Amino acid sequence: MEKKIRNLIDIRDLSTKEIDDLIEVANDIINHKEKYSHKCDGKILATLFFEPSTRTRLSFESAMLRLGGKVLGFSEASSSSTAKGETLADTVCVVSGYADIIAMRHPKEGAPMVAASKSMVPIINAGDGGHNHPTQTLTDLLTIKREKKSFNNLTIGLCGDLKFGRTIHSLIAAMSRYDNIKFVLISPDELKLPDYIINEVLEKNNISYVETDNMMEYMNELDILYMTRVQKERFFNEEDYLRLKDYYILDKNKLINAKKDLCIMHPLPRVNEISPEVDNDERAKYFEQAYNGVYIRMALILKLLEVK
Ligand code: CP
Repeated sequence: MEKKIRNLIDIRDLSTKEIDDLIEVANDIINHKEKYSHKCDGKILATLFFEPSTRTRLSFESAMLRLGGKVLGFSEASSSSTAKGETLADTVCVVSGYADIIAMRHPKEGAPMVAASKSMVPIINAGDGGHNHPTQTLTDLLTIKREKKSFNNLTIGLCGDLKFGRTIHSLIAAMSRYDNIKFVLISPDELKLPDYIINEVLEKNNISYVETDNMMEYMNELDILYMTRVQKERFFNEEDYLRLKDYYILDKNKLINAKKDLCIMHPLPRVNEISPEVDNDERAKYFEQAYNGVYIRMALILKLLEVK
């Protein structure tokens, strides 16, 4: 029987137990880096990025290099044969003969599914349009576990662009599995969480949530405040973007009544939504979050390549 290839397209492709195991491995890597430095000797990761990235692409590449493997790929569609009109299906079909695993980012929602149907090796969705970003969510989960010790009993504020924010969509899908989770959905009317997520994830699983456009309304109740950027690249007209881009700016004053152990997160990059003065607040965890991305991606590569 042909062996089934394991991909990561959506965070729900992983069971709760598998997420726990990945987090355990990532923590072990953090504590014993040398133990893992040859686990992927002879393996190649391809990074196919049709959209810009700093953290996701470089942390994937760092992850594979730290495991002893090698990397190849491209960081923009214009430097690949996509610019000559090659389809994604053909590109992936070819590259899957050059590498053992592929991490890809694409502006079109669902593109990683197309890739997976043509690939001979595992496909990892490194962000598809305004849809999903499952490895950012693994990074977020590792950060939450390290800061809060548990995924249960948390009030989570999600602030900014909840409509196009793929990290938000994947994080809600992941956190909705745990007990006593309450979401505070903070956004302007135009950037509210899509109905399909409200209906198919929150309502369907009886998850408690409130919607507000006031970031201060529930600030004193939050255990986690997850800020997001208003994404210029997802807007159809510049005027709307300019009107909404600075709708929320977190600064020191806004944190006066927040919990002492609030965990402030952001997938980054940020533009203006977190003032740099917050960086020195011990509750600011967004740079740790970015560092954690390497270790959870190392754990994921090991899992998908079935390296013990
Ligand atoms: N968080 C994130 O996806 O960052 P990049 O766009 O820099 O990869």
